[in-house]
Amino acid sequence: MKYQNKPQRYFVTGGAGFIGSHLVNRLIGSGEVTIHDDLSSDRKEFLQRHLGNPNFHFIQADLLDFDTLNKTIANHDIVFHLAANLNVRAGITNTKLDLQQGTLATHNVLEAMKVNHLGKIASRRAMEML
Ligand SMILES: NC(=O)c1ccc[n+]([C@@H]2O[C@H](COP(=O)([O-])OP(=O)(O)OC[C@H]3O[C@@H](n4cnc5c(N)ncnc54)[C@H](O)[C@@H]3O)[C@@H](O)[C@H]2O)c1
Repeated sequence: MKYQNKPQRYFVTGGAGFIGSHLVNRLIGSGEVTIHDDLSSDRKEFLQRHLGNPNFHFIQADLLDFDTLNKTIANHDIVFHLAANLNVRAGITNTKLDLQQGTLATHNVLEAMKVNHLGKIASRRAMEML
C-alpha cells in the first residue's frame, strides 16, 4: 500500500534491524528507500534481498556522525527513526550508552531534519497507513 499517491523518498535509520527491515520491505514498492545504519548489530541478512534494486540505497554510518547524517538525510520526504541500542543490560556498566544511542542519536536526526527543512518524521499514525 502506498503512503501517498506520489512516490516518496523514505529515510530509515536502523533499517538493517529487525523492525526497520520489515518496514523497508513494505516501503520499497512505493518509492525510494535510504537506510542509514552502522551495522552495529552485525546483521546484513535483512538487506540482501534489496541489494541491486535502484530504489534502494544503503548508507553504513553511525548516527553520532552528524556531518554524514546531515548529508545523507537531505532530499527525503519522510524519516523513520528506528536505530537504537538494544543491549539494554550493557547500559548498567556503560552508563553513556543509552544517552548516546538514544538521546544524542535522536537529537542528531531531528537536528539534521531541521537543517535540511524536512518536516515529516514517522508517527504511529503514519505507520498504520502503510
Ligand atoms: N524488536 C521488537 O520486538 C521491538 C518491539 C517494540 C519496539 N521496538 C523498538 O524498535 C526499535 C528497533 O528495534 P529492532 O528490534 O529493530 O532493533 P535492532 O537491533 O534489530 O535494530 C536496530 C538497528 O539500529 C542500528 N543502529 C544502532 N545504533 C546505531 C547508530 N548509532 N547509528 C546507526 N545505526 C545504529 C543497528 O545496527 C541495527 O541494525 C527500537 O527502538 C526498539 O526498542 C522493538
